[in-house]
Amino acid sequence: MTSNLPLLGHKRLAKWVDEWAALTEPDSVVICDGSAEEYERLCGELVASGTFVPLSSDRRPNSFWSTSDPADVARVEDRTFVCSQRQIDAGATNNWREPQEMKAVLRDLFSGSMRGRTMYVVPFSMGPLGSPISHIGVQLTDSAYVAASMRIMTRMGSAALEVLGEDGEFVPCVHSVGAPLEPGDVDVAWPCNADNKYIVHFPETREIWSYGSGYGGNALLGKKCFALRIASVMAHDEGWLAEHMLVLKLTSPEGEVRYVTGAFPSACGKTNLAMLIPSLPGWKVETIGDDIAWMKFAPDGSLRAINPEYGFFGVAPGTNSRTNLNAMLTLSGNCIFTNTAMTDDGDVWWEGMTDDPPSHLTDWKRQSWTPGSATPAAHPNARFTAPASQDPAIAPEWQDPEGVPISAILFGGRRSSVVPLVTESFDWEHGVFLGSIMASETTAAAAGAVGQLRHDPFAMLPFCGYNMADYLSHWLSLPDGTGPRQLPRMFYVNWFRKDAAGRFLWPGFGDNSRVLEWVFERCAGRGEAVDSPIGLLPAPSAISIDGLEVDRSDMDTLLGVDVEGWRGDIPSIRGFYEGLGERMPDELWRQLDNLQKRLDDAD
Ligand code: GTP
Ligand code: SPV
Ligand code: MN
Repeated sequence: MTSNLPLLGHKRLAKWVDEWAALTEPDSVVICDGSAEEYERLCGELVASGTFVPLSSDRRPNSFWSTSDPADVARVEDRTFVCSQRQIDAGATNNWREPQEMKAVLRDLFSGSMRGRTMYVVPFSMGPLGSPISHIGVQLTDSAYVAASMRIMTRMGSAALEVLGEDGEFVPCVHSVGAPLEPGDVDVAWPCNADNKYIVHFPETREIWSYGSGYGGNALLGKKCFALRIASVMAHDEGWLAEHMLVLKLTSPEGEVRYVTGAFPSACGKTNLAMLIPSLPGWKVETIGDDIAWMKFAPDGSLRAINPEYGFFGVAPGTNSRTNLNAMLTLSGNCIFTNTAMTDDGDVWWEGMTDDPPSHLTDWKRQSWTPGSATPAAHPNARFTAPASQDPAIAPEWQDPEGVPISAILFGGRRSSVVPLVTESFDWEHGVFLGSIMASETTAAAAGAVGQLRHDPFAMLPFCGYNMADYLSHWLSLPDGTGPRQLPRMFYVNWFRKDAAGRFLWPGFGDNSRVLEWVFERCAGRGEAVDSPIGLLPAPSAISIDGLEVDRSDMDTLLGVDVEGWRGDIPSIRGFYEGLGERMPDELWRQLDNLQKRLDDAD
């Protein structure tokens, strides 16, 4: 076995790498330095192995097209485990196995699993290098695709190793695609283990072991596994927050600035909102982050948020220059595209990118495709991997190690009925309640059925690394910290309301700025609101519809209280709360009873 291991001055790290190399038996071990030369070399190897197809240097310079195994296209929630010592600490919403038992199963799988491959040692920082809010991870992976992607998604390489020094703390992340090569075997373009995947977290020891998948959140372990599941446990223990939230900077025509976060489930609009171009004149939105926020109260009482990531792993379908021009510009080069279609002249395409598809494409299964074909050209969960710094709307302070002060938190999901365009909570506890009753129609971001309504509190159902009831208690406890605390206002939004014909009632995208304006005004102590059984609603003309095709009756639906609809939701919320188990906080049960009473009184 060849290796550049002697470069590791960190004894614990070197020992850990040695142990895993001995178990997984790679042909060689390479420590990633994060340099441009190394990235080029990795991409070259990926082109040689057929994983990457270089795109036209005129159209997408330094960019690559890749397609996955059809059995490896999204996060696998049923194969994702939180292995705490006690099952109750993982809670009712996580798959659980006893940690030592799980490790025994996985050790067998990892044994020899990197044979015939290179093990990359990928040091990375989640958050700006050296920031007091940041944390270091080291991922071992036998996938060059993952190593290359980690360089876009995280601050990866020697600089992260330097922060570690000789004795620094890191979250150990082990990843194998689970497809060893024996002598004479020919590799495939997307190695994975189609029928044996395990995405496993050990919260007490802060470890991640991932086996069998090369895709997205299953494999880029800094993202969901570390920055959400493990970090949520750290945050709970240490009094901060690790959340599935975008962070945006909102500037009013008068030049006043507010920072807003938004927790929407996967493929429910975070990236789009974070890059939004307001249709309202004079307003400006800039991006801090599009998927994950780490937040801490500062000594002055403000809640400070950083984006722990360095790039975007964004949903391609639906993205175009009308819906998200900033994303399209971000994608102009230096990107990896996975499971989009490819055009005959070496560019990418996906459903919704242009009104009419090109007359011929290579689809995500690398088959010839023509318009009218029975299957989509791009997989619905096709993604781009792009450097955040290329976003024309990136805020100058996006890497501020101190973070930005948050004034408002939005919760939202895909609800074709019942939930209004926007509702403000009465107070903090009611806001936590609104976050806890979020439900959303499932999307292609996770393997499984699409369009099924499921409860997804704080958009964290698949990402909370501990008991969901304890998570909700943690949110309830935030006003009680030592020192002053300026609590953000909380809002429940829904861009996805439909009419009987299945048409979206609200135009969404840039027009969501009309809702942001009301949020901004509420934070400034202005903005008219009216009381309702479900929370504070915008007064009839508080949301500008100038220049919109939405008529008054649509607005009445969008901003009205569907009392019967809400009453219809209550049994399912009760059932969900019951399912969360004995640790479910009393405050939220009381909130639910009060909601029911207010709805009954509304008749
Ligand atoms: P993850 O990366 O999976 O966490 O997703 P996300 O929350 O960042 O979702 P994203 O912004 O990528 O949007 C997902 C899909 O929803 C895309 O196809 C968008 O075009 C669509 N979408 C986003 N915002 C809106 C909106 O305001 N209205 C409508 N109708 N669709 C939207
Ligand atoms: C999500 O599913 O919420 C994502 C994509 O952001 S993945 O990184 O695959 O989890
Ligand atoms: Mn996400």
